[in-house]
This record gives sequence, structure tokens and C-alpha cells, in this order.
Amino acid sequence: MCPKTIQQPNSTVALLLVFITQKRLDMSVSKIALVTGGSRGLGKDMALSIARKGIDVIITYKSNAEMAKEVVQEIEQTGRKAAAIHLDMATFSTLPSFVQHLKATLANNWQTDHFDFLVNNAGMGATVPFEQVTEALFDEFLDVHFKSVYFLTQYCVPLLNSGGRIINISSGTTRYCNPGYSVYASMKGAVETFTKYLAKELGHKGIGANVVAPGPVETDFNNAAIRNNPQFKERLAAMSPFNRVGNADDIGGVVAFLCTEEAKWINGQRIEVSGGLNV
Ligand SMILES: NC(=O)c1ccc[n+]([C@@H]2O[C@H](COP(=O)([O-])OP(=O)(O)OC[C@H]3O[C@@H](n4cnc5c(N)ncnc54)[C@H](OP(=O)(O)O)[C@@H]3O)[C@@H](O)[C@H]2O)c1
Repeated sequence: MCPKTIQQPNSTVALLLVFITQKRLDMSVSKIALVTGGSRGLGKDMALSIARKGIDVIITYKSNAEMAKEVVQEIEQTGRKAAAIHLDMATFSTLPSFVQHLKATLANNWQTDHFDFLVNNAGMGATVPFEQVTEALFDEFLDVHFKSVYFLTQYCVPLLNSGGRIINISSGTTRYCNPGYSVYASMKGAVETFTKYLAKELGHKGIGANVVAPGPVETDFNNAAIRNNPQFKERLAAMSPFNRVGNADDIGGVVAFLCTEEAKWINGQRIEVSGGLNV
């Protein structure tokens, strides 16, 4: 028998084995999402919904370390890996040290220097009529809702894998007006414009960017304004075709969907998730 005919099948089998092993290794590497403000409210539901899609999650918290720990445990119960890191978006100068912690967490817990999905969710609310807004309040909202989102994204883009996605959480109040939200909604409007530029400027890296804009959701947001004020809640519910305000699980699944292969062609979009409020 000609030696060539024996060698060829053997080298083909060897190549196939290398290919299958490589494929298995690739498949065993999970994707990783970073969800800011994942300790409670919408961010917690986003983190858990993303984990249920088979993606590992790093959350951040500002003051509730204990709650963040519980979210990490809940994520781990779904079979995914998780971690929590402290982040205060109101203290802009701490962003570089947060990014160092993020890099160390990726290296120590995942043996990687990259991740896949950045969900800019952390935020706070206040109802302050335009004529009473102070420069200090304006600056705080600017830092938390826009400046830190802008530069955290700039720090994170070199760490994002091709195929990665940025999901910026805005608000229905950029489309309709909620009196007392002039500063908050203006910052969210800036985030929406920023997102379109991200989609345009990062496409060449295979990175997409979208906005999810929730309507009113009953969380701790704005001193639990909806939960603590039944009349306000009723008024908001009456504005919805479904006659209710939102729950965190009305939003988290949409953010998780944007992290899936099925959503890969959605880019540069603002998706309002408000149950059709004020249509
Ligand atoms: N709830 C609504 O009706 C609604 C509607 C539209 C849009 N949104 C937007 O959805 C996002 C989440 O809101 P939510 O309802 O989930 O609020 P939430 O229940 O009050 O939770 C806020 C989250 O953000 C974190 N956080 C607060 N201030 C921060 C800061 N300075 N730096 C870093 N993290 C900070 C909190 O961390 P700690 O737990 O450690 O404090 C917590 O994880 C916000 O961007 C908000 O503007 C909310």
C-alpha cells in the first residue's frame, strides 16, 4: 500500500481532533457582562436575566455591599460565575481605580482581560422643579448620569471583545415630560445621543450600542417615589394602556435579549420599555 494513502487519513484525523478540542475550549469560555448598579432594582433583574442566558456577570454597587453579595450568590445559583465591585459614579476621579479593580477581577476570576457586554445602568433620581435646580444638583446628575457613563465606556471599550455590546439605560422621560425631571431627563437625552455615536464609531470593532428606555418602574429609585406615593403611582398607571406601572422584570429580559446572538443586528436604537405609556 502506498504510504501516502495511510498518512493522509491519519493527518486528517489529527487535524479534526485539534479542531474539535479547540472548538470545545472556545465553547467553554463564557461571555461576561458588566452591569453597573446591579445590587438592586432594575440592575439586579438585568444581571439575573443576563445570567439566565448563560452569561457570567460582574455587578457594581455604591453603598449596598451586602445586597450586591446576595445578587452574586443568586447569579451563582443559576450556574454562572459572578463578582461584585464597588463603583461610585458621583466621584469621577475614582473611575481609573474602578477600572483597575475590573481588570484584576477579570484576570483573577476569569483568566481573561476582556469582557463582552457593558450595561450602563447605575443611577439615581430626584424630583426638583426647574426653578429650584442648583449648580450642585446639576453637577451631581451630570457626573452620575452622563460624564461617568461617557468615560467609563471609553475606559471599557478596549476591554470589549469584538461582537460585544454596550447597553445604556435611559428613561421614557426623554420622550414625554415628568415635571421636576429637567436635569435627570436632559442627562438621559445626552446618553441617547452618545449611544448613536458609539454605534457609529465602534462598528468597525464589531461593537454595537443601544439604549433601553424604561417607563416608570416600582423600585427604590427617586426615594421609592412610586412605591411610597399611591396617588402618584395611580396617575402613572392610568397613563399606561395596561393600567399599571412597570416591574423590574418588565425591563431585565429586554436588556438580556440585547446580549444574545438573536439581537446582533439591533444597533444604534432606542428601545422604550414602558408598556406603551403615553402613546
Ligand atoms: N425605576 C424607574 O422608574 C426608572 C425609569 C426609567 C429609568 N430608570 C433608570 O434605571 C436605572 C436603575 O434605576 P433603578 O430603578 O434600578 O434604581 P434603584 O433601585 O435606586 O437602584 C440604583 C442602583 O444604582 C446604584 N447607584 C446609585 N447611585 C450610584 C452612584 N452614584 N454610583 C454608582 N452606582 C450608583 C445603586 O447602588 P447601591 O444599591 O449600592 O446604592 C443601585 O444598584 C437608572 O439609570 C435610572 O435612571 C429607572
